[in-house]
Formats: sequence, structure tokens, C-alpha cells
Amino acid sequence: MITDLMTPVFRQFEGGLFAEIEKADVGDGVVRLQEQGATLMCWADPFYPDPIIPPHVAKAAAESILDGSSVHYTMPIGNPELKVEIARHLKATAGLNLEPQRNILITPGSDSGLFYAMLPFIEAGDEVMIVDPSYPNNFQNTLIMGGVIVRVPIYAENHWQLDVKEFEKRLTPKTKMVVLTHPNNPTTTVFREESLRDLADFIIKNDLVLVVDQAFEFPVFDGIPMTQMAALEGMWERTLTVRSFSKGMGLSGFRVGYIVADDQVIDKLYAAMVTVLGATNSAAQIGAIAALRDQSFLENYARVHESRRTYVYEQLHGIPGVRMQISESGFLSWVDVSGLGSSNEVVAHLISDAGIVVNSGDNYGENGKGYIRIVHGVLSSEMDFQAAINAISASLRRLAEARGLTAQTENKVAAR
Ligand SMILES: Cc1ncc(COP(=O)(O)O)c(C=O)c1O
Repeated sequence: MITDLMTPVFRQFEGGLFAEIEKADVGDGVVRLQEQGATLMCWADPFYPDPIIPPHVAKAAAESILDGSSVHYTMPIGNPELKVEIARHLKATAGLNLEPQRNILITPGSDSGLFYAMLPFIEAGDEVMIVDPSYPNNFQNTLIMGGVIVRVPIYAENHWQLDVKEFEKRLTPKTKMVVLTHPNNPTTTVFREESLRDLADFIIKNDLVLVVDQAFEFPVFDGIPMTQMAALEGMWERTLTVRSFSKGMGLSGFRVGYIVADDQVIDKLYAAMVTVLGATNSAAQIGAIAALRDQSFLENYARVHESRRTYVYEQLHGIPGVRMQISESGFLSWVDVSGLGSSNEVVAHLISDAGIVVNSGDNYGENGKGYIRIVHGVLSSEMDFQAAINAISASLRRLAEARGLTAQTENKVAAR
């Protein structure tokens, strides 16, 4: 079997062609459910599946196709104008002073950027500290590179904030890197500056590398400051920040992301870029330039997601057996359903009872057990969105009733 010739990590992967994959949110399974009429609230894809694009972005990308200019690779890899716009944007929003051609690398989406950011540093046996729960790719990327996953737990009781002591406890001579999803997916937590300063001191003191995934850095709610790890003293040289146009600008299908780092890092990444990632779609990069130049559409975008997170919180928190903290960023809700059953049981219940697919918290790490992730940013119509959340709410109430839980039996905790 050709698979016997694969690395042990790849040998154990299953893509759903030869075995039924249990997880509802991957591969064929999710497509089948959608064909059967299920509503998908499991793709972190703004307003999915509705067609929605800022007109000026559509115009720029479409014109570049119609006039033939985007049929070519961008030369060099990564549209130089896009890098200039990104540098301007990050100066305005993050206070970073970047040299567009030396500090920015355009990638085909930030998933590839995330993988690529880790690649130069991780070899067999290197330990990678990853916050648990966090984005599943962090765990998988580490395994693919032969690294060792070191899970650093965060807890609901601590509002999912970082505690540097949890990192310190797990430090060994093999520790090489910290991977941080900030704001965190699935918890939506925006890590507070004080804990990030502690983490930065820990990273510097122990000569580690930081990969920070900021795909969800916009929108952030309640005026919580979005601290830039790369801007903290001593961190620029050892931080690779991975960003995306998918979440904060609602352009997920364009597949445009980027890495921001010191030119010592970018130089090496640049050298291997053609072989490992290739170039990013040229028309999509032109669309991304238009999105950066006129960001007026983002005001409404942020407002919609802000009002939705409140709606979800009001509908779901306090259902017997259900607790949540209101989202701090993005368009996800992270909901503790452990009072009703395991994550997978509740996911299966919502599919069969409400026809809605959400994510099992198990996918996000050991500390995701007992949670579900709801992508409340899907569907463009507010009515459709509310109908879906109301259906989840009713369905969870039915499950609570079946479990013999009532509001009286519940000790309602205001977790905010
Ligand atoms: C935390 C996080 N980072 C990165 C990505 C990758 O996004 P993209 O490749 O579309 O930029 C995702 C997608 O779900 C994500 O949730």
C-alpha cells in the first residue's frame, strides 16, 4: 500500500473517502447534511452561504479578470501595491511601522500562512506550546512537522484568559515555540495586555518564537484593546503575525492572508515561498486592495456581528444546562452544554432535532469538551439568523426537558 510509505502522521489521517467521518463539520458529511436542508453554523465564514460582497471589491476584482491583467502571477509573489496598503492599514489600526516589501508576505489564505510561519522553526521533537482550546490547525500543523504538542490550558472560570504560570510549568529544554490564536477561536477571548506582557517576558527569557494568528482581530467588542504582541518590547524579532482577509473583511473565498515579521524571517520565507506555497490569486489580491482602500463597509459589518453576539447570549445563556460568556470578538459563540451531555451528543441532537450543524467543542482541544461552537455570523438575513438561533434555543430547551432539567434545578450563573 502506498500509504505504508507515508509518514506516521499522514498514515493516521482520514479524509472521508474510505471511512465514514464522524465529525459533522468536515468533508463530505457536511455537504450531505447541507443537501438534506440543514443550516450550517459550523463554517467560520461570514454570511455563508449567501452571496455578499462590497460592490467596489467585486468591481475591482471583476475588472482585473475582464481586462486580462489578473490572468498572470503577481510579480514578485505578493502584489506590491497590496503590501503598501497593508502597511498603511496596520500603521493606522495597530500602530506598526512596516516596510511593505521587507516585512509582509502575502499568502493564499492564512491557513497556509499559519503552517508556513511554523515551518522554518519546527523539527522532530521540538515542543510547541498551544493554548487549549484553540484553532485545531495549530495542533495538526505541529504533528505534521514532527513537533510535540504541549497543551497550555485556559479555563472558563478565568474568562479564558492566559496565565503565564501555565506556560512556565510546561517549559522544557525542547520548548521552541508558542502558538497563540488571538483573539482566540473558539472562545473569542481577547487576551488582556497584562497577561500578554507576562507571556512576552516568558518568550524572550526562554529564547522562544511566537506565531500569533490574528485572523479574528476585527471586530473586537466592548472597547477591549487588541494588544499587538509584535509591538511589545523585545518581541518584534521573534514574532510572526499571521493575518487574513477572510474573517475581518468577509472575503474568505478570496483566499488572501499575510504574514508580518522581521526581514530576517521574511527573507527566508521568501526564498522558499515559490516551492511551498506558490503565489496568491491575482484577482483576489486586487479585490483585497480595494477592500483596504475603502473600508466603509466594515462599520455595518462590525455592527451586525456585535448585535448578533448579544442576541445569542440573550437566547441561550441560562437555558437549563447551558451557560456561556458573551463573545468578545468576531462572529462565534462558545457555549457550555455540559449540563446536557457531551459535545458530540448535543451536536447530533441539534442536527436531528433542529436541522442545524454546529461544531463539537472536542475539535478544539481537551478543554473544549462539553462545549459547542456556533458560528452566528453565517446567513446574511437577520431574520434567518434569528430563526436559526431561536431553533437552537428551542431544541436545547427540549433536550434539557428530556434530561429532567428545569430552571429551578439550575443554578443560573451570570458568567459575564
Ligand atoms: C483562527 C483562525 N485562523 C486562521 C483561519 C484560516 O482562515 P483563512 O485561511 O481563510 O485566512 C481560520 C479559519 O477558520 C481561523 O479560524
